[in-house]
Amino acid sequence: MKAILYVSRATEAFGDGALGDLLQQAEARNLELGVTGYLFYKAPYFFQYIESEGDEVTELMQSITRDSRHEVINQVEDEFTGARRFPRWSMQFVNDKVLNRISLEQIVIDDLLSMTDVYRDEGRWRQTLFQLVGTISRNQQTLASQPRG
Ligand SMILES: Cc1cc2nc3c(=O)[nH]c(=O)nc-3n(C[C@H](O)[C@H](O)[C@H](O)COP(=O)(O)O)c2cc1C
Repeated sequence: MKAILYVSRATEAFGDGALGDLLQQAEARNLELGVTGYLFYKAPYFFQYIESEGDEVTELMQSITRDSRHEVINQVEDEFTGARRFPRWSMQFVNDKVLNRISLEQIVIDDLLSMTDVYRDEGRWRQTLFQLVGTISRNQQTLASQPRG
């Protein structure tokens, strides 16, 4: 399997209508290509994950990069064996209301649980983890105003 994820900045405002049109078109083409994944949008940023069995994501990424409605800032590619991560999502839209139901802390816990001795001292991995904690730190105000569970 081949996967690509990227962050981009929208060059125009995306209302519900424009997003709906984009997703409808994306879903149809992804279904044809055998691409699955999800699209997150929180103005002005898009975050998208796409995966395919062959090189389809690379081809699609070329189209996406050419699209003047946004500018791709950074992208990473990965190859892995086994099953798709999102077999049932041709292109699922995700916003932060949905993501709030998955706690950020769970990501940190998952990461620390899967940590091996090799990774523990890996600078970039450590940096990612502390970046997550940094995100929580920057949101202290918001988090403190949530009712206690
Ligand atoms: C943020 C964003 C995500 C997109 N995701 C997809 C996608 O998953 N699949 C897709 O077919 N097109 C997607 N598009 C649209 C493509 O960029 C492009 O317009 C469409 O594939 C037609 O490409 P073409 O002009 O090269 O034929 C996306 C566009 C944007 C702005």
